[in-house]
Amino acid sequence: MKRLFALIFLTTPLHGADLSPVDLRTEYLDRPLAIGTVLPRLSWKLKATDPTARNLKQTAYELQAVRQANGFEGTPLWTSGKVSSAQTAQIELAAKLKSRDRLAWRVRVWDGKDAASEWSAPATFGIGLLEPADWTALWISAKDDQVFTTKENVQNFIDDPKLGTLHLTPAKYFRKEFEAPSIVRATLHATALGVYTVEINGQRVSDERLAPGWSAYQRRVNAQTYDVTKLVRGGKNAIGATLADGWYSGYVAYGLLTGQQGLVDGIDGRYYYGVSPAVRLQLELELSDGSRQTIATDTTWKTSLGPITESDILMGEAYDARKELPGWTKDGFDDSKWETAVCKTGTASKVTPHPGVPVRAIEELAPKSVKEQAPGVFVFDLGQNISGVVRLKVKGKVGDKVKIRYAEMLHKDGRLSTENLRCARAVDTYILKGDPDGETWTPEFTYHGFQYVELTGFPGTPDASAVTGIIIHSDTPRHGSFECSDPMLNQLHRNMVWTQRANFFEMPTDCPQRDERMGWTGDAQIYVNAATFNADISAFYTKWLYDLNDDQWDYGAYPAYAPRPLARPNEHHAAGWMDSGVICPWTIWQVYGDTRVIREHWRNMSDFMAWRSDRDPGLVGGLDDSNYGDWLSVGNVKTPIQFIDLAYHAYDATLMADMAVAIGQAKDAAKYKAQAAKVRAAFQKTYLNPDGKLSIHNQSAYAIALYFDLIPAAQRDASAAQLAELIKANGNKMTTGFLGTRPLLPALSASGHHDLAGILMQQHEYPSWGYEVDNGATTIWERWDSSINGEVHEPSMNSFSHYAFGAVGEWMMGSLVGIDRAAPGFDRVRVAPRPTGTITHASGSTETRHGTLACDWKIGGGTFTAMIVIPPNTTADVTLPVKGPLSESGKPFPASGTFPLGSGRYTFSGAY
Ligand code: BGC
Repeated sequence: MKRLFALIFLTTPLHGADLSPVDLRTEYLDRPLAIGTVLPRLSWKLKATDPTARNLKQTAYELQAVRQANGFEGTPLWTSGKVSSAQTAQIELAAKLKSRDRLAWRVRVWDGKDAASEWSAPATFGIGLLEPADWTALWISAKDDQVFTTKENVQNFIDDPKLGTLHLTPAKYFRKEFEAPSIVRATLHATALGVYTVEINGQRVSDERLAPGWSAYQRRVNAQTYDVTKLVRGGKNAIGATLADGWYSGYVAYGLLTGQQGLVDGIDGRYYYGVSPAVRLQLELELSDGSRQTIATDTTWKTSLGPITESDILMGEAYDARKELPGWTKDGFDDSKWETAVCKTGTASKVTPHPGVPVRAIEELAPKSVKEQAPGVFVFDLGQNISGVVRLKVKGKVGDKVKIRYAEMLHKDGRLSTENLRCARAVDTYILKGDPDGETWTPEFTYHGFQYVELTGFPGTPDASAVTGIIIHSDTPRHGSFECSDPMLNQLHRNMVWTQRANFFEMPTDCPQRDERMGWTGDAQIYVNAATFNADISAFYTKWLYDLNDDQWDYGAYPAYAPRPLARPNEHHAAGWMDSGVICPWTIWQVYGDTRVIREHWRNMSDFMAWRSDRDPGLVGGLDDSNYGDWLSVGNVKTPIQFIDLAYHAYDATLMADMAVAIGQAKDAAKYKAQAAKVRAAFQKTYLNPDGKLSIHNQSAYAIALYFDLIPAAQRDASAAQLAELIKANGNKMTTGFLGTRPLLPALSASGHHDLAGILMQQHEYPSWGYEVDNGATTIWERWDSSINGEVHEPSMNSFSHYAFGAVGEWMMGSLVGIDRAAPGFDRVRVAPRPTGTITHASGSTETRHGTLACDWKIGGGTFTAMIVIPPNTTADVTLPVKGPLSESGKPFPASGTFPLGSGRYTFSGAY
């Protein structure tokens, strides 16, 4: 039977098909070793055999899956049979699966002529440890929590002249030796309350950083799974883990700034989830007879301190190379002076496979320059604001101490400008062991947001090679491109991508540098759609939506940030922030056709909506004082919280109605439709005059109302005209903040003022995107005036890497380049390039679940030309700004207005 199946697997039935399946993914991931579900969703893309072919559609598919047991040939498990369907994603593999299963699957597809493709190359995946009983490993710590419960018992207080007394803790090292028989496979399941790395026989098991990441630890801790078959050998072995506080017990959020005490009396800013970090490792060895041996953390493991003497995400890391433990993860190391690890009890959180993408060192950057700013103070400029750390290269005497500081900006005199880091100390320190061949070091359990690096204490004079920027962030697969006739916009787009990279760091953070780096929900909902043009964020957001829902308040409100380490009751019912709980799942569904994300969080979203309407029976909007409003807007007329709250309430209800339809909840769909209509009516009654004027007469109010479709069709033009007038009266400049900027340009373009949107986009005077770029920005600023005359403005809250105002990327791609979705999952797309009058060329691409969608247009000599790429399985509604007849690749093309177009590459032209 086994052989027969293998034979079927290898034979190629029919070929000559126009399409072949490629880029197979399981739960959005490329060959994941451990997914957290027994109902994995499969997807693939379709590649055209002939790149010039058009109108390609899949008409059917067939899937096969085999179990991969013990590394031997698979046994048949599941086949779908030929399914007549165009579906290529979100297909559930409905076999009975369980923890530790490993499968391979493949697919073939049929094209429009009913010709079958060859079978795809197989994709593999594994199921992680799903049941609590699957984990036999204990949580181990270096010390019992109890030891640290009073300030008197805490060690390692450091006085920082700027920050006062900091309590910084060293990393802990754990090790165990074991005998292994001859194995066919070794799998390590690992997690921590804290952050960890693991080595086996002197080699790191992975390049992941800051694993297992941040989650609502009181409910859920994520775990990683590594294939370590190559690292384990028959006979003696050793395994070792390094453990630091990370987000679990280190300084997080802005707790130090605001004096939020954690679990230890008298210590602010840290210990919100627990006091001592703990690690849990389960190494499973599979033998050729199918049996399994497990090496798991328990109280036979030994523990010690070592070279990492301080480690904290916000504060930085200190490494004393004199304290290194050579060979500690190899067998034969003398650990007789090490202590015995203790078992950490009372940890009831669910352990689940990490559903997102890992944080990794993605790229390196060499400094552009190095200057001796003052005697012995060397400042390196990377030329780009990034998130990460540096690799230090140094040669000197034992005990020499190099201090590394980080900053996004410099003062006029060349000193690092660190005031805006607030309570993030952001200092790494390296003490040399005096190796005559030189030493290199990269901090492990910290990261910083920076462009400039300062070294002090460096033995001698460093050249540029002493420092290398290591760019670290979540490894979301990047895609897409943008380019146009205005170089400022090209730089701005690069800045957006850099800002997204720096802030898609385990969760969507607000900033990578100061003492926040939190998953602010408002920022996340504003930017999520723009983000999807630049990277595949499906798995990354899937993960964060668990964080967000885990930290929903029990009465229904969503928090202002997630994970939410500081339990401050009822403080943040911020309109535009909490609504992230509805807007983000809706966006993920729209972009990836993902209805599971809706189903999984439907109860939570419904609770939120119930709370939202219960608290506002009179539909007057926002009842809380502590609310951010149109955050960082710069106009004189503020947008009241009540206005924003009511608008978001109506918008949420509309999205809920859409989502209810998508998951077949007809009753809920009707309920939310009615709720949306009711709130919309209340909004109009309170704010809209018959002449289209809003009683809140500012740019944000119109932008939000138009974008959320809160203005009846009959008054839309008049309202849009009011908006346009306001902008013109303000010298073609914006006054909008986080909430108003995102809808501003799309609302203008959708209501007859596209050229004005273009003028705002290309504005160079403050407040504008051009102002940032002209002032040397390499990332998106938090404020329109983050820097004035080259100095950091308002350093008490100012970041140079904040993506919210980068949400305009959505307009650049969707309206200017003119590529966007027209149906969930990009099954139908809209291609509508729109020159603005001053932008004469734009080109952009993104990756949809069907493949590349692109448009490249230009105007020249009275002719408009557009090269358009539509992926297979996709129909585009195309609208081109040409007068008179249209031609395609030089031949007349009989279409006008908006016309449908199947997959393929096209070159259209016509008079402009
Ligand atoms: C953060 C944000 C966030 C805001 C809430 C700031 O400190 O950086 O981006 O949305 O607080 O008002």
